[in-house]
Amino acid sequence: VFALLPEVSHSVFTSMVSGCAGEGEGEACPTAELPAPAPTTFTDVLSPQRLLRRTTLTLTGRPPTDAQRAALDEAADDAARAVVLDGVVEEALASTSFYEQLVAFGHDWIKVGRYTTGAQGEAYWGHMSGSLFPCGADSIYAGALYVSGDASMSDDPADVCNGLAWDRSGALADVPVVELEPWWAPGTTVRAVGRAGFQTRTHPSRDGTSTTVCGLYEGVYFTAGLRDDANNAALPACSCGPNLLYCSPDGSGFAQANSADDNMQRRMAWDEPARLLAHIAVHGRPLSDLVVGDYSVGPNKLRHLYLRHARQNPANLQLDDNTFWKNDTDVLADPLHDSRDPMAWREFKPSDVHPHLLAERDYHYDPRTTTEESRGLPTAGVLTMMGSQSAFARERVRAARWLEIFACKDFVPPPATQEFSPFDVDPATTGTCQHCHTLIDPVAIHFKRWDFGGHYIGPTPMMPGIGPWLIPTDYTASQFPYARWRQSYIPNTVLTPITEEELAANEYARFLEFLPEGQSVFGAQSDGTVGPLGFGKMLVASGEFDRCAVRRLSERFLGRDLDPAKEAGYIDALVEKFVANDRQLKPFVRTLLREPAFGRGL
Ligand code: HEC
Repeated sequence: VFALLPEVSHSVFTSMVSGCAGEGEGEACPTAELPAPAPTTFTDVLSPQRLLRRTTLTLTGRPPTDAQRAALDEAADDAARAVVLDGVVEEALASTSFYEQLVAFGHDWIKVGRYTTGAQGEAYWGHMSGSLFPCGADSIYAGALYVSGDASMSDDPADVCNGLAWDRSGALADVPVVELEPWWAPGTTVRAVGRAGFQTRTHPSRDGTSTTVCGLYEGVYFTAGLRDDANNAALPACSCGPNLLYCSPDGSGFAQANSADDNMQRRMAWDEPARLLAHIAVHGRPLSDLVVGDYSVGPNKLRHLYLRHARQNPANLQLDDNTFWKNDTDVLADPLHDSRDPMAWREFKPSDVHPHLLAERDYHYDPRTTTEESRGLPTAGVLTMMGSQSAFARERVRAARWLEIFACKDFVPPPATQEFSPFDVDPATTGTCQHCHTLIDPVAIHFKRWDFGGHYIGPTPMMPGIGPWLIPTDYTASQFPYARWRQSYIPNTVLTPITEEELAANEYARFLEFLPEGQSVFGAQSDGTVGPLGFGKMLVASGEFDRCAVRRLSERFLGRDLDPAKEAGYIDALVEKFVANDRQLKPFVRTLLREPAFGRGL
C-alpha cells in the first residue's frame, strides 16, 4: 500500500535543482545553459546522486561529503549503489548531526512555551533558590560567591566580600570564606562568603520557640533570596546548604529572564521535551515513552530545578543529602557530551530528585474515599515536565495541547447548522461547547494536580493537596490560583465527577484526577492511574499515539503529512511497521526512506 502522488512534470525549478545536483559543498552552480526538461513519467526516480543528497539532507541537514559522492559514482551497478546508500544512511543515523536534527524536530513536534513560573518579563525566580553573585574584582574576596535577593535578609557585598558581615544593628563581624564543591560543577571548588557558605540546614527561630527549616526560597520582585527569620548577623542564619544546594549560580532574576542562553536553567526547562525525544530516538527506546516513560534527561541545572521544587515541601529534607549532581556513574546521555559532564543531557528518573513524581506505574488515589494526602503523580515523560506543565498553565489548556501534539487533533468550530442542547454549567455535556469539550474535559481531568501560579508575582508552583501546597482557609479572599480551583472544579461535571457531599466531606475531592469507570478517551478505559500517566496510557492503548506519531514522522522524514481521510490504509500499514519495531524511531525512519515516495523526491 503506497502513497500515490499526482503525476508531475519537471518544472524549470526542478531542472535547475538537478542541474546543480551532485556538485560539492560550496561549489557554484554551473552557469551553462539549463538542460531541456526531461520527459517525466510517474515512475521517475531520483538519480543516485540526488537520492544521496536528499538522504543526507533529510537525516543530518548537510549535503553529502565528497567521499560519499565518489563512492556512489564508483559503484558499478544498482546493487552496489544500494549498498553505498545503506551505508550512508547508517552513518547518518549514528551521527551527532542526526541527534541535533532530532532536537530541532522535537521542538517542532512538541512545541512548548517558556518555563514561565515566577515573575515574568524583566525578572525571574522560577529556580526557587537563593541567588548567588560573585564578589567584585576590587573586593578582598574577588570572585567568591555571596547570596542575595530582594525578599529576605541579604548579604551586602560591600561588607561580606571584604570579610565583614553586615549587621542591621550596625556592628560588623568577621566572616570567613569557605571552599565548597558546588552542585553545578562537581569535582571543582568555589569560594563562598557570608551566609552562603555556612552550610546551616536549620537553626533556632528568632523567638526561640521553634526550629527554622532552611532551604526555602522567597521571591518578591526581581531576584529570589532565601527565606529566613534571622534579621541580624548576630543571629544564627540560613545558608545555601550543603554544596550550595539551596542556591543558584545564575545570578539575578534579570539575567534569568533571558531564556536564550543554553547555560540557563530556564532554557533547559524549555528544551527538555525535545531533548527527551532525541534521547529516546538515538538510544532505541519506544517513542511512547514520551507519554508513559518514567525517565527524562537533563543537565545538572535542570535536575536541580526538580529537586528545588520538591524541597519547597519541608517534609523532603532528605533531599539535602541527594547526590544527583555528582554524576558519579556513567549513564546514557546525549552524544555531544560525556555523561559525567554537568552540561550533559543525562538520563535520570524524576522520582530520584522529586519524591512527588512517582516511579510507580499504576498509582491510584481517590480523594472520595480517603483524606490521606496524595503522594503525587506518576512520571509520564513530557506530560509531567516542569516546562510543559508550566507553559500549558491549566488543565484544559494542557489537554488541548497534548491532544493536538500526540493525537493530531484540531479543534475547529462546529458547522453553523449543528444543533446543541442549551448550555448549563458543564461544557462537556451541554451547549455548543460539547463539540470540543466532550474530548477535552475527560483528558483535562488528568492535569489538575500541578498548578503553576505563573503570574507576575504568583505563589510557588504547587501540587495541590500535597505537603505545604494546601488551600488556605481564606482562599476566597486570597489570590490565584485558589479561587480558580473553586470556580473551575464544579461538582457533577465531567471535569470534576464528584458530588456536593463528597466535596463537603473533603475539600481536596476537587482534585480527583482519573477517569471514572464507564467513561473513555478514544474508546480506551482508565486503569485508575492518576494524573498525566493515566491519560498517556489511554492515548497509547487507543492507537491514537501511534497514528499521530506515524504522521509526524512521515511529515519530517518522508517530506509530507499523510491525510487520514484519503490515506487511512497507508497510515495503518505504516503504523503496523512502527509498532512491530517497538515504536523505535530509527527502524521506522529506515522504512520511510525505502518508500518509493522518498526515492522520487519532493
Ligand atoms: C471549537 C472547539 C471548542 C468549543 C466549541 C469550545 N471550546 Fe472551550 N476550549 C477549547 C480549547 C481548544 C481549549 C483550550 C484553550 C487553549 O487552546 O489554550 C478550551 C478551553 C476552555 C476553558 C479553559 C480556559 C483556560 O484557559 O483554562 C473553558 C473554561 C472553556 N473552554 C469553556 C468553554 C465553554 C463554556 C464553551 C461553550 C460555550 C466552549 N468552551 C466551547 C475548545 C473549544
